[in-house]
Amino acid sequence: MPRSDPLALRQRIRHEIEPGERKRRYVRRLFGRVARKYDLTNDVMSLGAHRRWKRLVLGLAEIGPEHVVLDLAAGTGDLALAAARSAVAPIRVIAADMTGEMLQVGRTRPGASGVRWVQCDALELPMKDKSVDRIVIGYGLRNFARLGPALREIYRCLKPGGRLVALDFGRPSAPILDRAYLRYLEITASAAGWLLHRDRESYLYIAESLRQYPGQREVTEGMKRLGFVRCGYLDLLFGAMAINFGDRPGKAPTPAFASRE
Ligand SMILES: C[S@@+](CC[C@H](N)C(=O)[O-])C[C@H]1O[C@@H](n2cnc3c(N)ncnc32)[C@H](O)[C@@H]1O
Repeated sequence: MPRSDPLALRQRIRHEIEPGERKRRYVRRLFGRVARKYDLTNDVMSLGAHRRWKRLVLGLAEIGPEHVVLDLAAGTGDLALAAARSAVAPIRVIAADMTGEMLQVGRTRPGASGVRWVQCDALELPMKDKSVDRIVIGYGLRNFARLGPALREIYRCLKPGGRLVALDFGRPSAPILDRAYLRYLEITASAAGWLLHRDRESYLYIAESLRQYPGQREVTEGMKRLGFVRCGYLDLLFGAMAINFGDRPGKAPTPAFASRE
């Protein structure tokens, strides 16, 4: 099967990312390969907009003093570093990711010493039950080998009253728009991957992983089934991007203030 045949390549990616252990290994290898160029590609492909959306994530998280904040699937730590930078009172920030190469890049970034970098899998977090106040995720949900168990693990680690806020590519609600968007992503992402890195596959993966991802509405329903309350999502770009959020029920200690960006 020639690697340059786009149809065959798409089929191979689809096979590799069927939920489960094979997807975990595939995703781990893929991010290991792109780690050094990840930040640049992110800026180019979103024209810098991902920074604004990540600020929105942190705003919705309402991080307060003394909070333990976990940036899950942190990659090079955009959310963790921004949370640590913008905190006006002491907080503890952890950046967790399963790909060592991504964390390695993160550890060299300005402000990295204010963050604890942990290599671990979202499906088996080393954090204790009810130990984290806020879990923020940037483009992680879609990449998890199994989404349901990852959400369950997140719920386990959140303190009562704790909050999950997760940004990812979304699925527009109109089927025609959804199909057009997936096609658009296939073409633009693989072209960008080829132009920037001569690596079509890593970027074609974005469209294929999104095809498999249930999208913001189903994630909301899944969160409710797990027991999250005050669940919802914020559509960005007509639902092409979305931020899911929800709280573990229970009363959180009232912070003296809430930081918003
Ligand atoms: C698209 S990157 C996102 C990086 C960063 N959060 C951002 O917003 O730019 C996805 C990250 O998810 C990580 N990841 C995927 N599956 C994971 C899992 N099961 N456990 C922990 N990290 C995972 C990958 O290693 C990768 O660094």
